Order: sequence, then C-alpha cells, then structure tokens
Amino acid sequence: MPDFIPVNEPLLDGNEKRYLAECIDTGWISSEGPFVRRFEERFAARVGRRHGIAVTNGTAALDAAVEALGIGPGDEVILPTFTIISCINQIVRSGATPVLVDSDPLTWNLDVTQIEAKITPRTRAILAVHLYGLPVDMDPVLAIAQRHGLKLIEDAAELIGQTYRGRPCGSFGDLSTFSFYPNKHITTGEGGMIVTDDDALADTCRGLRNLCFQPGKRFVHERLGWNLRMTNLQAAVGLAQLERLDELVEHKRRMGARYTELLAGVPGLQLPLPATDYADNIYWVYGIVLKDDAPFDAEEAMRRLAARGIGTRPFFWPMHEQPVLSRMGLFRGERYPVAERLARRGFYLPSGMALSEAQQERAAVVVRGLFAP
Ligand SMILES: Cc1ncc(COP(=O)(O)O)c(C=O)c1O
Repeated sequence: MPDFIPVNEPLLDGNEKRYLAECIDTGWISSEGPFVRRFEERFAARVGRRHGIAVTNGTAALDAAVEALGIGPGDEVILPTFTIISCINQIVRSGATPVLVDSDPLTWNLDVTQIEAKITPRTRAILAVHLYGLPVDMDPVLAIAQRHGLKLIEDAAELIGQTYRGRPCGSFGDLSTFSFYPNKHITTGEGGMIVTDDDALADTCRGLRNLCFQPGKRFVHERLGWNLRMTNLQAAVGLAQLERLDELVEHKRRMGARYTELLAGVPGLQLPLPATDYADNIYWVYGIVLKDDAPFDAEEAMRRLAARGIGTRPFFWPMHEQPVLSRMGLFRGERYPVAERLARRGFYLPSGMALSEAQQERAAVVVRGLFAP
C-alpha cells in the first residue's frame, strides 16, 4: 500500500529554526523572553487590535476570556451546539448556563437567525465561533449584541488570516481568541492568543494568564488565575509563521479550490461553499458532508478511507449530545437537527500545509472510489 496520508502535517520552513536557535543561544526560553512580546504585538496589529495576550492554547484563551468577562452563576451565554468542547468548558465550570443554537447547513457556522429567540434577561454574552473556513455572518451578531447590551466573545481559532467583509476575523469580539495548534493556518506547536481593544480587559487577561500575581505584592492574590504563559520558544516559532501568513492562507485557498475541482460532480457529496457574499473560504480544513442518498455515514466512510491510506477526522460532535454535559442535566430533550446531521455525515480530508498535490490527488481518487458502482 502507498504511504498513509496524514490528516495534517505542518510546514516549518521559514525562520522557525533561526529564531529557535536565538532562544537557545541567548538562554531566553521562558515566557519572559522577547519573542513573546514581539509575537503578541505583531499578531494583534495583524488583526487590527490594540492588545495581544499569548497563552498556552486556544482552549485556555477561551477559558480566560469567559472568566475575564466575569461570567458566572445566573448568567447565560449563547453559543453554537456544533463546535469544539473548548467553547463550553469554562461557561459550565463558572456556573453559568450555556444556551445553544443550531447551525447553517451550508456554511456550518451558527445560524444567526436563531440567536434572538434565545435571549433572556439573564443573557450576558454571545460566543461566535468561526468554523472550517468561512466566518460567521457577523453583522447580524453585532447588531443583536448591541441591541441587547451583550458581550461578544469571538472564537477565531480556525480562521487566522480570514476576513469578514474585508475586516479581519478576530477584530469583532470584546475578546477574540485564536489557537496555534499545528493544524491551524499558523502554529506554535501548542499555543493561543487573546486579542482586544479594551485596556482593562487586556490587563485582566494578562493577570489571569499569570496566576493573578500582583505588581508590588506578588504573592498576595485578589483573584484566582491560571498559569497560561506561552514560552519564548513557542513565540519564536509563531513569529516565523506569522511572517508567512498571507502565503499560508493562499496555499490553503489553492488546496481547497483543487479539492473542489477534483471532487466536483460526485453525487453523494456536499462540498464546502467556496464563498459567501461576505468572505472567500480559506479552508482551515477541507470538510465534506455525505448527502442523504450516500449509502454510508461519515464513520463508515472514514473507516473505508483509512483502509486505503487516507487520514481523516470527524466533524465536531454537538454539545447537546455530549455525555459529560447530559449527565449534568444540560440540554435535556433539546434537538438541533442541522448539527446532528453534520456530526453524523461530515468529516474532513487531509488538509495540512505540507500536503503535496500528488497526495491530494490520491486522496480525491480514493474518495471518488467510495461512490463508484
Ligand atoms: C473552534 C476552535 N476553538 C478552540 C479550539 C481549541 O484550541 P486548542 O486546541 O489550541 O486548545 C479549537 C481547536 O482546534 C477550535 O477548532
């Protein structure tokens, strides 16, 4: 059998090695090193924000964002059911109530028309999550947040380098968050970032990241934080990656267009939308959804592809169907049919930065073969 094609392989052929060597040569390896500040400043500038707060991963960025906004018992936060569990962890742990909305069947992002019906006097915030390659339709979300005096957390983990109507993803939230896991458009191995224009929120996030040590009275604490500090080594890699962001986004756009060309006309497949009226897809990963007439579900398709050497990943599993949350009594009897269908019929193909055209072609041929009579 030809080599297995992994679902993701990063590309680290810019200044990564040089900057890492600088960390080693100078001995700056902790979060105190100069690359952290440089990475924060350049990243924040890239998405048009005043502050960047580098953290250990995208989940931690979300945890800190929810805590920084003071969300807790009695509060409700509206978010999509179709997302990663990172989005809901701190909402639940804080004692607040997560309130779910279903997804749009074509963009796979939260269905913005469902938000307003979920607002109550206890609603404090909306968590908008950009998924797979196209942003959430932000104008209606911003209008609703403003009309009801709600905070907006924007999870842009998957859409580094994407824009909404020309404005960078990550420029919309009171707090916006990113992940630099190796399958993202830029990576630091593990890592994340919070960005904001609000000086006070930025200070709070910096405190939460660093155990809420206090200037002057270091070991006296007024609040419980975490150690979420990014190391200089990670920031060095991040800075080298950031220098090439435009190129990396273009690379993924080409990859997405190529998959679409190679898979066009397969009758059982719903392919990602190449564009909406507010954005062109940047294909964080190339997701596909099996249409109802496909004679197998995503699990079976992924099994057959793995047997033929093609790595895949399932789509997210909805929050209202998570055993851990059901056991807490959350979302009893709630149904979100679009998310349920995406979870059962959707998965993504090898989509890493290092994927070659030959590998892509082979993956597409094997996918087509699933539907051959
Ligand atoms: C939408 C979204 N939010 C948050 C995260 C969490 O990021 P991390 O894996 O860096 O914790 C991810 C992870 O891939 C994600 O896809």
